[in-house]
Amino acid sequence: MAKNEDPLKRIIAHAKEYGFVFPSSEIYDGLSATYDYGQMGAELKNNIKQYWWTAMVKMNENIVGLDAAIFMHPTTWKASGHVDAFNDPLIDNKDSKKRYRADVLIEDYIAKIEGKIAKDVAKGLKRFGDAFNEEEFRATNPNVLRNVDKINAINDRFKKALNDDDLADVKSLIEDLGIACPVSGSKNWTDVRQFNLMFSTELGSTADGASTVYLRPETAQGIFVNFLNVQKTGRMKIPFGIAQIGKAFRNEIIARQFIFRMREFEQMEMQFFVKPGTELEWYEHWKKFRINWHKALNLGDDNYRFHDHLKMAHYANAAADIEFKFPMGFKELEGVHSRTDFDLKAHEEFSGKKLQYFDAAENTSYVPYVVETSIGLDRMFLAVFSSSLKEEELKDGSTRLVLTLPPSLSPVKAAILPLTKKDGLPEKAREIFANLKYDFNIQYDEKDSIGKRYRRQDAIGTPFSITVDHQSLEDNTVTIRDRDTMEQERVEIDRLYSIIEERVSYRTVLKKLES
Ligand code: GAP
Repeated sequence: MAKNEDPLKRIIAHAKEYGFVFPSSEIYDGLSATYDYGQMGAELKNNIKQYWWTAMVKMNENIVGLDAAIFMHPTTWKASGHVDAFNDPLIDNKDSKKRYRADVLIEDYIAKIEGKIAKDVAKGLKRFGDAFNEEEFRATNPNVLRNVDKINAINDRFKKALNDDDLADVKSLIEDLGIACPVSGSKNWTDVRQFNLMFSTELGSTADGASTVYLRPETAQGIFVNFLNVQKTGRMKIPFGIAQIGKAFRNEIIARQFIFRMREFEQMEMQFFVKPGTELEWYEHWKKFRINWHKALNLGDDNYRFHDHLKMAHYANAAADIEFKFPMGFKELEGVHSRTDFDLKAHEEFSGKKLQYFDAAENTSYVPYVVETSIGLDRMFLAVFSSSLKEEELKDGSTRLVLTLPPSLSPVKAAILPLTKKDGLPEKAREIFANLKYDFNIQYDEKDSIGKRYRRQDAIGTPFSITVDHQSLEDNTVTIRDRDTMEQERVEIDRLYSIIEERVSYRTVLKKLES
């Protein structure tokens, strides 16, 4: 990659070239921050959903699923606080006329200081080599300490300003830090103001009779309003969880960085209902479970870190992000939130209906507390896709682009490739295809040289390429090529199912969550 090239550029290009992600309505020049998943993307997305659903719903006896409507009664959003408090602090640059999220400008500024710290650490490592003790260096190096203090001071002031709703001080902070507009370089800023992120539309056929409804900005509220329906019909006992995968919509101001921040996206959320007073224990439990879920995919343990929230959402008493090292740096991938009884209590108040759990053992009723895990499916897609795309130099000096996706998530599990288009090889290959198609997503490909076909499969992350040659007709064997090692082995056709199954099954990955 050329220096200064946007690290996402190659990923976006690859995603498009191989049918993973297309700009939405591209023939009309696209719609900003909206994307379509192509033939490969749809498969990868479904596989991520399955990995999540299996880990959360199938593997936990006390978690069940739900599929609530996107439209909800408008009072839902009044009760949840989204009408009044689901805002981003915005600031405009008067010269470039560009609009920014004030918190993002400040976060970017902090990221630059973190970059300086990383540089100092790298210098220390270079200087001291094997004798380098990073922990000690961070605790004693004057430059590092000064920069850490600086970050803490900015965070403290920003947190206070937001908690006090003191938008004038957020502006002053931006000015005091000397933050300039990335486009114009100007420091000529407007005041900071709040902007609500919910999309609204009209329900009803005539404007007169219409009422305003919102496109849900999170799937969680569909779970809260169904809490008692599920608890009673499912005879669920606390603690228990309700999980849901579905679309959410936010009118993001700066929707950028490909599928990282979109206006229409998908969430995988789970609300875990617990006895009041036990929520922080469960909060720790779910933080651990979720980070293990991520790490089990082997995308690299160093790619994850926790980030505790500075400013709690209006409903939370503890909250942390699981951040992932995306091509543009560490960013939020998932949130784990201890939401207290805020939502259920608010829905009780606004609906006038009781939303309480009757604890038969203790003969009392209470409004449960909730611990939530919330991950963006599209962000998970970007995490998996971007960390898997590699350009490898081969022994013969050539290079290959390979998508080393976790095999359980690969869109295509195996490609069946007849060596030539004649001599009965396509027929034999089709026979194998017909046998495996019920269990795996398989591709049949007879076009181009075998080398080119291998490269195509590498580029979409297919773990196995199965070549049918003349020997196959004689002894019912094929060669099976491993995507990662590129090694080939001759195996009996009867063994293909078990070889593929062992490698691509979710079981191997999910078992790690139980150890
Ligand atoms: N119910 C809690 C909730 O919605 P959040 O931190 O606002 O919490 C949860 O969102 C997750 O949804 C985020 O960690 C992120 O992965 C994903 N997400 C949020 N906004 C997004 C957007 N505009 N585009 C893509 N994913 C988004």
